[in-house]
Amino acid sequence: MMSFDFDNALTGLKNGRNFSLVTFDNLTALLKKIKEGSGEFIFARIFEDLCVIKEIKQISREIRGKFDSLIVAGIGGSSLGARCLYDNFLNKKERRGLKVFFMENIDSQSIASILDLVNPAKTAVNFISRSGTTLETVTHFFILREIFRKRLGSDYGSHFYVTTANMSSPLGRAAASEGYRLITLPPELSGRYSVLSPVGLLPASCAGIDIDEIIAGARAGKGASLKKHIYSNPALMGAAVNYFHYKKGKKIAAIMPYRDSLFSFGEWFAQIWAESLGKKSWNGIANGQTPIRGIGVQDQHSLMQLYLDGPDDKIVIFLTAGAEYDFKIKNSGENFKYLEGKTVNDVLFAEQKATEIVLGSRERPSWSVHMDAVSPYNMGALFFIFETMTVFAANLFKVNPFDQPAVEEIKGWAKKILASGSNRAKKEN
Ligand code: PA5
Repeated sequence: MMSFDFDNALTGLKNGRNFSLVTFDNLTALLKKIKEGSGEFIFARIFEDLCVIKEIKQISREIRGKFDSLIVAGIGGSSLGARCLYDNFLNKKERRGLKVFFMENIDSQSIASILDLVNPAKTAVNFISRSGTTLETVTHFFILREIFRKRLGSDYGSHFYVTTANMSSPLGRAAASEGYRLITLPPELSGRYSVLSPVGLLPASCAGIDIDEIIAGARAGKGASLKKHIYSNPALMGAAVNYFHYKKGKKIAAIMPYRDSLFSFGEWFAQIWAESLGKKSWNGIANGQTPIRGIGVQDQHSLMQLYLDGPDDKIVIFLTAGAEYDFKIKNSGENFKYLEGKTVNDVLFAEQKATEIVLGSRERPSWSVHMDAVSPYNMGALFFIFETMTVFAANLFKVNPFDQPAVEEIKGWAKKILASGSNRAKKEN
């Protein structure tokens, strides 16, 4: 179960019952696209495709039967969602899956640390790249191929799983010619909207997370996101509220989850919000709301001073969740009498509420999402609602939520620099 509370962000926005200052462009058509999941909106349908889910489960069973570790090599939308799911269910007692390591950034130290922790003979690698050409993932592929080939001989190919939409890319071609298991993605699926596809669900299933529950949650999130009335639709509300405040000078959206494991949800949100909205609109205006990822309570002792007394340019999004465990405080003594009998979760709740109240006292907007538990079901719903919220916000900002022209420009330049022979590497192992 999940609830949204927008009360602390509605001042000035509502005119009677109407959001007269925020007008979606042809909302009916947009809702239809989400419902049908056509074209780039396939993100809203792919988890309902029984063949896709059957294939994920079958491959996951195979991987779990043969290996004890999985390396996921992907970056951006090809890893952040899966990593968030893994982080959130890492310590669940009932999880009976593989250890998963994420090879995302280009950092030889990180590659070395992961290799230290796995035994190639018992390790599968899932290379994930929609385009199949992303420099970081291709680099990891060439490095790991040599290492695995050296250690395992010709059998190394049975450890490799390639998830891609591009069969003629280096990854796609290698999969075909060297016998890796290929998991094909629809070409229209945008990377940052792919957590509820094989990109996020295969690693999650290998980790022993119940993907049927994630999918059930995503379906519930879809139901909520398709509601026509804005007050019943949290995705529409989130988009409207953030856009309205952006127009009133809140150029920054600061997300603050109050659970350590949810920090990576903030990272996932930062990517989808920045990469989908940060671009020129159809009428040539450069816009987008800058996401900052923080963590409660920690950042009450850090960023929150700035959020409260610094420039009034932020809207804060709180994310809270019930917990599986709790600890009662005993013998707290005279000075901390008010803590006697309270639990760690009581303290956490009070801290978050206090922050909300102090923000409100300065008329700084915030809204919040509360999940009764960090469950696969709730995570499925949360991902879906934040995906559609981003699509609705893109409609208000008048931008294409699915492209990333500036990111592609960097990708192109990095390749040019490497091809021109510039090389600053110091030492090769
Ligand atoms: O959201 C996006 O499209 C990007 O962040 C991509 O996911 C990222 O650049 C990786 O691309 P690819 O999956 O093609 O390797």
